[in-house]
Amino acid sequence: RLALGRGGPLAGKHVVVSAGGTQEPLDPVRYLTNRSSGKQGFALAQAALDLGARVSLVVGATAAALPTPTGAERTDVETAAQMAEAVLRLCREADVLIMAAAVADFRPRQVRAHKIKKEREAPQLELEPTPDILLAVAEERRHLGRPAVVVGFAAESEKLRENAQDKLERKSLSMIVANDISAPDAGFAVDTNRVLLLLPGGVVEPLPLMTKGEVAAAVLARVVGLLAEGAQ
Ligand code: CTP
Ligand code: CA
Repeated sequence: RLALGRGGPLAGKHVVVSAGGTQEPLDPVRYLTNRSSGKQGFALAQAALDLGARVSLVVGATAAALPTPTGAERTDVETAAQMAEAVLRLCREADVLIMAAAVADFRPRQVRAHKIKKEREAPQLELEPTPDILLAVAEERRHLGRPAVVVGFAAESEKLRENAQDKLERKSLSMIVANDISAPDAGFAVDTNRVLLLLPGGVVEPLPLMTKGEVAAAVLARVVGLLAEGAQ
């Protein structure tokens, strides 16, 4: 790994990275969650540090056990609502946001104060949508003009390019990293990833199978370019 540190192209830049999956409580002992390991997000934080950035890492509960990259400022959260609060707060002073976290889309409508007892009838779970963090960031960005660069991830099991393109536009992103989670060597719980980088204007750059560290370096190299262009 080449660490450029303070002399690097991201020196003086504040990069916020979210990583891992959220957990949405149902009662004091149960929650809804997903399979995100957080590895890709942590690799992105490390890659940003290597280029000299100041890095804030917002960590979802599924990645709580991963060690903090040296020099990153870490905030641990459990729920999508807590992640939204942390990311929006940090983004007010950030130059770059990279949303690698797997945010729960739905949460139990009610969090029971007491453990749900085993009864004859299984309980019906009523769910409600969580806030979309990238949509909230896009809204604030229209007023504040920052972060200058916002990168999203799209985990898809079908129609990779089409679905990712749609998210790039809907969430007003500078770039989206699309990954095919149906491939056995990419996505959750493995150390490699096969991704496409999509940029506005229909620009698509497929990357070969890489380690998550190499994907992170490739994404950060693009971020440096976007910042230099003063991207929105
Ligand atoms: N994301 C977010 N807030 C949410 C859900 C997702 O900010 N509540 C972000 C993710 O961190 C990711 C991007 O949006 O960077 C795309 O996430 P993804 O789950 O692929 O897309 P969704 O918009 O949630 O749509 P769907 O799950 O239906 O594909
Ligand atoms: Ca989702």
